[in-house]
Amino acid sequence: MLNKKLEEALNAQINAEFWSAYLYLSMSADMSDKGMSGVANWFAIQFKEEQDHAIKIFNYVISRGGVVKLQPIDKVETKWKNALDAFEDTLEHEQKVTSMINDLYALATEEKDYATQSMLKWFIDEQVEEEESAKGIIDNLKLIGDNGYGLYQLDKELATRVYTPLTTAE
Ligand code: FEO
Repeated sequence: MLNKKLEEALNAQINAEFWSAYLYLSMSADMSDKGMSGVANWFAIQFKEEQDHAIKIFNYVISRGGVVKLQPIDKVETKWKNALDAFEDTLEHEQKVTSMINDLYALATEEKDYATQSMLKWFIDEQVEEEESAKGIIDNLKLIGDNGYGLYQLDKELATRVYTPLTTAE
């Protein structure tokens, strides 16, 4: 059985993952509005992946006999200056998520809950990738600056990102 403290913390993480999904969907809408359909595609896929993260924890709580309590999802920003601004916010947000996952892992360790520690290892690795990919795109955008052709090329590249459902969200 999941102890109550961890159950509460995992429920908070489910909400945070859904909030992340909502944030990226909002970024996708704004990037479409700015005519950057490839960037919009990248964020639309990020939206789906965040929902998978939420469902992974949702399923885990249930599998441990815990109770899922879905809470309201806070509002998100709706406008960014440009793609660089959106990706800088993405990196900052993912750094916050990393520290939330680290805090959860610390709590699971304190509570001697080895199953939760094992489940969270996937998220620890995922956060390394999340931060790395946002940082990589920020670096590209900084190199490109105001170069229209460069932005056009990067937008085309980000249009190729495809969604791979999480098999572990089963
Ligand atoms: Fe679910 Fe982007 O971390």
